[in-house]
Amino acid sequence: MKVLIATEKPFAAPAVNGIREIIEGAGFQLALLEKYTEKAQLLAAVADADAVIIRSDKIDSEVIDAAKQLKIVVRAGAGYDNVDLEAATAHNVVVMNTPGQNANAVAELVLGLLVYTVRNFYNGKSGTELMGKHLGILAFGNVGRNVARIAKGFGMEVSAYDAYCPAEAIEAAGVHAAKNQDELFETCDIVSLHIPATAETRQSINRALVGKMKKGGILINTARKEVINEPELLALMAERTDLKYITDIMPDADAEFAKFEGRYFSTPKKMGAQTAEANTNAGLAAANQIVGFIKEGITKFQVNK
Ligand code: 3PG
Repeated sequence: MKVLIATEKPFAAPAVNGIREIIEGAGFQLALLEKYTEKAQLLAAVADADAVIIRSDKIDSEVIDAAKQLKIVVRAGAGYDNVDLEAATAHNVVVMNTPGQNANAVAELVLGLLVYTVRNFYNGKSGTELMGKHLGILAFGNVGRNVARIAKGFGMEVSAYDAYCPAEAIEAAGVHAAKNQDELFETCDIVSLHIPATAETRQSINRALVGKMKKGGILINTARKEVINEPELLALMAERTDLKYITDIMPDADAEFAKFEGRYFSTPKKMGAQTAEANTNAGLAAANQIVGFIKEGITKFQVNK
């Protein structure tokens, strides 16, 4: 039984060591493909793999076709929009994610980026504080909940909206439940995106929605670039010179956004889950899920049912 870790953006070393212990401890073999630059390298590496652990690595139908022995893919992380679920299902390949395992890391980055932003990117000029500001959280999953917890520590007022989470569950977490997306954008000083990239959400963060934000509004995206309607956001920011866009996922139109000096920041590479702790949590969970599936048929976190 061969388990491949295929990570273009590698895990921290302790995470790889921990995964190795679990996989070899189960009597399986571990192979490692890190920092690959060509798809051909991935296609070659999956050829004899029974199981694959990935991060944002793209597993499309070509990769699934090339992996003749593949039984399971575990996305060590939350979002699985990088995996072709239909192709996997058609080839009887189980796909899982590891929900929640890297959520705190992403949430800490949100608050870190916000401090950086309201302090004018540390340029020496007087900035503002987060305390007392109204933060809107779009989607109240594992990351959204962690953002709320930390933001409350900053003394922020916190609201959330989630199309799939009842208002009572949001209120139970001590967060105001906005009636809808529009209310969130209209009432909050800062909106933090935590929606997955789905057919429904792609390009849903558009001019009409962001245009509802109050003067000086900040939109922060640590979710997916695909949820942003980039041409519309660019047009809006050209018009509304008070708005800021902060992201951990570099937009396709990065060069265009970069023209809004002092109102735009993107990390050069997605950093949200890039901590030793998150790598270890998600990596070990992935390894344990593979062992549980191969040895006992456990499919708890399967996403292509
Ligand atoms: C996730 O969906 O878990 C995050 O976006 C992290 O992605 P990464 O593993 O590519 O850092």
